Amino acid sequence: MPVTRMLQQVAGQMLGRLACGCWTAGQPLRFLGTSPRQIPADANFHCASFSGTDQPRVLITGGLGQLGVGLANFLRKRFGKDNVILSDIRKPPDHIFHSGPFIYSDILDYKNLREIVVNNRVTWLFHYSALLSAVGEANVSLARAVNITGLHNILDVAAEHNLRLFVPSTIGAFGPTSPRNPTPDLCVQRPRTIYGVSKVHAELMGEYYHYRYGLDFRCLRYPGIISADSQPGGGTTDYAVQIFHDALKNGKFECNLKPSTRLPMMYIDDCLRATLEVMEAPADSLSMRTYNVNAMSFTPEDLAQEVLKHVPEFQITYNVDSVRQAIADSWPMNFDDSNARKDWGWKHDFDLPELVTTMLNFHGSDTRVAQAN
Ligand code: SER
Repeated sequence: MPVTRMLQQVAGQMLGRLACGCWTAGQPLRFLGTSPRQIPADANFHCASFSGTDQPRVLITGGLGQLGVGLANFLRKRFGKDNVILSDIRKPPDHIFHSGPFIYSDILDYKNLREIVVNNRVTWLFHYSALLSAVGEANVSLARAVNITGLHNILDVAAEHNLRLFVPSTIGAFGPTSPRNPTPDLCVQRPRTIYGVSKVHAELMGEYYHYRYGLDFRCLRYPGIISADSQPGGGTTDYAVQIFHDALKNGKFECNLKPSTRLPMMYIDDCLRATLEVMEAPADSLSMRTYNVNAMSFTPEDLAQEVLKHVPEFQITYNVDSVRQAIADSWPMNFDDSNARKDWGWKHDFDLPELVTTMLNFHGSDTRVAQAN
């Protein structure tokens, strides 16, 4: 008998009953008293919450961060515009507001979350609200609230309403005592940032809810994500986004990490595709619920060399930020994502040369438009 099943049975016996969840007349048959959100012990979260022919109804939290709008556009192409709701606590710019459903959601307000899930018949939730590594160190109590308390609300609402839940984790979930080159899926995780600590917590809590209550929790540890049309918000890998903009605008870039700082990275198109692929993977293909995913690994020096091939006058200088450098020095240099490749067929498209060409083309057309105006 699989371990998961055994654990569920043991837990079920301990609680008096455990089996498939049936909700009668809108009420769970049984509540688990220890849960702050009254999760039914007998809910079967593996039951599909939409039939094979239906499209999922998607909610994205933290929708105005680096990845939310790109993910919404990507999913809307697949599932239809109206089936993907972007949400945030901030006011969206016009073009985002008019590109598809957008609503206010505050992940620290459980009732607000529940209302959104119920009123919109949400079945898939992508939880993108989080404070990143550098900004988290500058505001630990806010990072703790958003990244940990907020996550608890998300797990509870997902469990309560049988949602399939995606939570991104990160290279930042590893620390100085983890193997760094390469970093496997399963190894010591003792991060030294509140961001990393909160993401290890998210991985463990999500997996716990999966094994304990059957929550369909899926998690990828993203490398640094490089996006063309959206800015990251306070991460250690941000330099690898900013460099393209500055190279074309000013012909130079001041890097806040040392030239030899090697980190795993990925272009946003690969990131979004990986995310959808793991969400669509058949449950029995997932030997784990948290996977490393990777595409490439480079240093600021490598990246600058590649940019130079396209922008011959480009110059990079270094002005090291000690907080970011200490964080980067504790993170993986290379990410071992062989389990994702084996289990659900992960394969990246963008290596360093394609990344640089794509980013410079994007910003190049941008710059030309700005110059023409
Ligand atoms: N991009 C993130 C950061 O630098 C890592 O997940 O904080």
